[in-house]
Amino acid sequence: MIKSFDMQDIARRAACPPGQHHRFREKLDEHGFVVLEPGADGGVAPDLDLDAVMSQLGEPVSYGFGTKLDLQPHQGSENLQFSTHAMPLHTDGLFNAGPAVRYIGMRCVAAPRAGGQTLIASNAAFFAHAPADLLDVLRGVTIEYRNRIPGYYRDRPEGGHPQVAPVQDDPVTGRTRLVIGLTDPDDPMRTHDATVVGLGAKESTALLGRIKAVLHQPHVLYAHTWQPGQVIVQDNRQVVHGRAAFPGQPRKLVRLSVA
Ligand SMILES: [Fe+2]
Repeated sequence: MIKSFDMQDIARRAACPPGQHHRFREKLDEHGFVVLEPGADGGVAPDLDLDAVMSQLGEPVSYGFGTKLDLQPHQGSENLQFSTHAMPLHTDGLFNAGPAVRYIGMRCVAAPRAGGQTLIASNAAFFAHAPADLLDVLRGVTIEYRNRIPGYYRDRPEGGHPQVAPVQDDPVTGRTRLVIGLTDPDDPMRTHDATVVGLGAKESTALLGRIKAVLHQPHVLYAHTWQPGQVIVQDNRQVVHGRAAFPGQPRKLVRLSVA
């Protein structure tokens, strides 16, 4: 089969309506994510159970808060996760100690009327659509990340500030992988800072901006509008993710990641 590098096409194929739930693993590994629609599937319970879905894929990953997380706005929180702000595109696991996140599962409990989409960008589509000169530069750099939300992650024993190559050959999938943690330097609630090692502030910001511009192209990015009961599972090695802002509205997702 010829692999698609158009994210809108990939997203259509990643849809998993009732009746196809038994095929979700196959779709997930092929497309990098899957959207499970609630509904009876050949006698299986109509409500999708996040624990049951994720237990088929691996062992839960522990963070500073435990394993399962209610993602919803918290009054007064200084952590971007618990705000209504946009979350820039990123790979999970840049800061957390322990086994690397492979699959991220999210179940929608409450959806905002507008905004709040989960944004998913395909690594394969990124590499297919990024300009050659950008990819050349990215293969030769590392990016340093500085965490700004103590207590959220399980700190790595070595501490410090991880320096991560943005382009990696992934031994698990056999594919080239984008490993990135974009951030909005103007958001006082940002979870972290990112700088390209060896570049001045202006050049570093410009390079990260070029990565963002490619990731946000329609051929690369899918914006999922949630409906309560839906479950999305993402392969953290094949896609990066973020969210759109949803000012003044409720939104609740339950998240469980496995290694
Ligand atoms: Fe994340």
